[in-house]
Amino acid sequence: MNDPLGPIDNLGGDFPEGQRLQKVLAAAGWGSRRVCEDLIAAGRVTVNDEIAVLGRRVDPGTDDVRVDGAPAGTQPDLVHYLVNKPTGVVTTVTDPQGRPTVMDLVPHSPRVFPVGRLDLMTEGLLLITNDGDLAHAVTHPSHGVDKEYLTTVRGGRVSPHAIRMLRTGVELDDGITHPARVSQPEPGLLRITIHEGRNRQVRRMCAAVGHPVERLIRVRIGPISDRKLQPGQWRHLTDDEAMALRTAVGHGADTMRRRV
Ligand code: URA
Repeated sequence: MNDPLGPIDNLGGDFPEGQRLQKVLAAAGWGSRRVCEDLIAAGRVTVNDEIAVLGRRVDPGTDDVRVDGAPAGTQPDLVHYLVNKPTGVVTTVTDPQGRPTVMDLVPHSPRVFPVGRLDLMTEGLLLITNDGDLAHAVTHPSHGVDKEYLTTVRGGRVSPHAIRMLRTGVELDDGITHPARVSQPEPGLLRITIHEGRNRQVRRMCAAVGHPVERLIRVRIGPISDRKLQPGQWRHLTDDEAMALRTAVGHGADTMRRRV
């Protein structure tokens, strides 16, 4: 039981991106991070029945964290994951066809769900959370959280006329699209920012102007971007990012207070 490799082996475990133990304890009300570090250094904190060492990361949703043997009360009410979805992964909780889903990319506890949807072959940033209010606000067009995409399109350089059409509105079978921000950093590569979240919207917009999408990547959701997150990886939103997202959708500090 007292395997000397135990704590080291557990540092990442299944949750290499877990949260620092002192931060989790501080959020649960055990004092400042410094005070919580002292608790850990004094050997008063256990994780899954093992005495924790400084540097330990945990998943507050699944790890049993105790201080002096008593549950530390770290079960979070809300979690927000940022995922870089690879192609070939479906954005659903379960897939009847047995394909990999985005839920396979994140911890299974607590129960979470994807915010909005990326197509099977679309890559890039996706939020996964158990925060229903925030999910609703982010996906609701009236809150105006913009989503930015990079896309390579067929047909080479897109003409100024086609770019103007994408910017002002394209006639699709479910109506004209709202104005979009569109630039062409290099021929055949478009940067498109939209507020709406219609089904396959960017693909349909590009096809409508004669340039079907070859590759589509979402690179920003409101204030959230991350160039370092690799396909298939996830991380927690930082407190600042969660706050910025709430501000972007008009949920300010009052909802934030519920988190601690
Ligand atoms: N637009 C699309 O066409 N597909 C996506 O996955 C997201 C936006």
